Amino acid sequence: MCGIVGYIGFREAYPILIKGLHRLEYRGYDSAGVALINPQNRLSVYKAKGRVDELEKSVKELDLSGTIGIAHTRWATHGEPSNINAHPHCSQTGSLALIHNGIIENYAVIKANLIQKGYTFQSNTDTEVLIQYIEYIKATHTCDLFKAVQIALNHVVGAYAIAVMEKGNPDQLIVARKSSPLVVGIGDNEFFIASDASPIVEYTHKVIYLEDEEIAVLHRDQEPKIVTISNIEKTPEIKELEMDLSQLEKGGYPHFMLKEIFEQPETLKNCMSGRINVEGTHVTLSGIIDHKDKFIYADRILIIACGTSWHAGLIGEYLFEEFCRIPVEVEYASEFRYRKPVIHANDIVIAISQSGETADSLAAIELARASGAFVYGICNVVGSSIPRNTDSGSYTHCGHEIGVASTKAFTAQVTVLTMMALAIAEEKGTITKEHYLETIKELQHIPSKIKKILAIDGKIKELSAIFTYAQNFIYLGRGYDYPIALEGALKLKEISYIHAEGYPAAEMKHGPIALIDNEMPVVIIATNSTVYEKVLSNIQEIKARKGRVIAIVNEGDEVIKALADYCIEIPSTIECLDPLLSVIPLQLLAYHIAVNKRRDVDMPRNLAKSVTVE
Ligand code: G6P
Repeated sequence: MCGIVGYIGFREAYPILIKGLHRLEYRGYDSAGVALINPQNRLSVYKAKGRVDELEKSVKELDLSGTIGIAHTRWATHGEPSNINAHPHCSQTGSLALIHNGIIENYAVIKANLIQKGYTFQSNTDTEVLIQYIEYIKATHTCDLFKAVQIALNHVVGAYAIAVMEKGNPDQLIVARKSSPLVVGIGDNEFFIASDASPIVEYTHKVIYLEDEEIAVLHRDQEPKIVTISNIEKTPEIKELEMDLSQLEKGGYPHFMLKEIFEQPETLKNCMSGRINVEGTHVTLSGIIDHKDKFIYADRILIIACGTSWHAGLIGEYLFEEFCRIPVEVEYASEFRYRKPVIHANDIVIAISQSGETADSLAAIELARASGAFVYGICNVVGSSIPRNTDSGSYTHCGHEIGVASTKAFTAQVTVLTMMALAIAEEKGTITKEHYLETIKELQHIPSKIKKILAIDGKIKELSAIFTYAQNFIYLGRGYDYPIALEGALKLKEISYIHAEGYPAAEMKHGPIALIDNEMPVVIIATNSTVYEKVLSNIQEIKARKGRVIAIVNEGDEVIKALADYCIEIPSTIECLDPLLSVIPLQLLAYHIAVNKRRDVDMPRNLAKSVTVE
């Protein structure tokens, strides 16, 4: 939540900062701001409520010169979205400016102390408290800005990725992080900083991922200096960025979400590439190979995640139990971390996260590691916090996901979980050779089958028009497709703001059936599976109550066609892989309904892609 970007070097900072803010807008978009130090050493701060576009419009006629600057796009935590609460925030004398992503939990105590000393505050934010506090320390300790930041960070409790600059010192930018992401891009005599690499990639591929409690001093003509808040000097570890600029553009699609839905045949191929051998007879995941015994002798697997990643985790439960015969529990990270869970050293904890930065998932990992469990991460963003805080893991390799509603990351997570289940089952001997080979073969056919579903997008669009003004939706599925019912409902809620509930189809009788009348659309996944007949009965129960059934069926299913009001036909596959196909029409349906309703699909209200606060 919140995106931060900064620049110091020889170019004009403003265009770099604004472009960076647009790239980071998925992280928060209720207000934005920029601070620049111009060549005459004047510090200007401009802010606007709303999107980055609003900021751009409001500064058009103003002085935007300067080769050092910081900028921020906000997702409100402390204080409503407004100009005053927008970042950057300035110190009392106006000589320091700060941007911040995270939460300073003990801000109230610090603020009360500062008020007693005569400080006044413009905003309701924890961030303003931090910059005032830094200035207070600088004055009372008569130290430089770096030292003041270091001392302040020793006193704050909470999460932060910050960048600070000082009017009298335009050659230096100071940044630091704890539990919020921060990447430093290294150019020739220039530095870029950002919450993720997307604002940086077009200028340099050399980056440093700051670790928790590290402060980087970026001086125009010097090598970057990294020192911890406990004053230990670190050697900067420069990494090569694996990101391609085209991933950050819409590539002719009207929205990133649609682009990402259509990328899935390719992203799943990338996800499998190098992991399934050319003959299609073997799955290897390096993250597992090195820790084979941990998986073979695991007593239990605990899967922790949030949102869409949690839905992928539910599918993981079915896969690990069926293939590996290991008991699995799937937990919301936010619940797990606070309910004194029983974790044994022989448990394996799998943390699933697209961003690799979700605060609750990170805290749950910490708890699991403290209990001695082996922690495995399934993440998309390379170098993010979860991969850096886990014992081993697999990347999903689906490229930068920008649409706030997750699509391609979800199918890649399910694909990784499938490959993990196969690899572990083979090692454990809990899968027959035939089943193993058949699953790999079918998995390799998934990308081309997804392509076939994408080809009927026009039909799904037509269907969406019929249901655009529905007030509620029910989504039903059973077995492997139950998590898809949850995911389909979540996608619709997130981007169209229509109330939708996902339910296991048989549970419908224990409550949701009371909601069914001739107004209620019911999306039901009714593909071939061991519970096909049962789902058929569920459809009959809905029709008996005049519900409007939209069924996801396999091609050529005449039985359900005769029963349902509308059918979306998808290719058949084996049961455990069905979610990878059945989710696609639900992503498209949600997308088109949201577009029909003129919603902001890529940036739905109140949501942020990366939830770095609890
Ligand atoms: C937010 C996003 C969701 C995502 C969830 C978990 O709510 O809007 O799309 O599923 O966070 O994020 P993660 O990065 O941990 O998968």
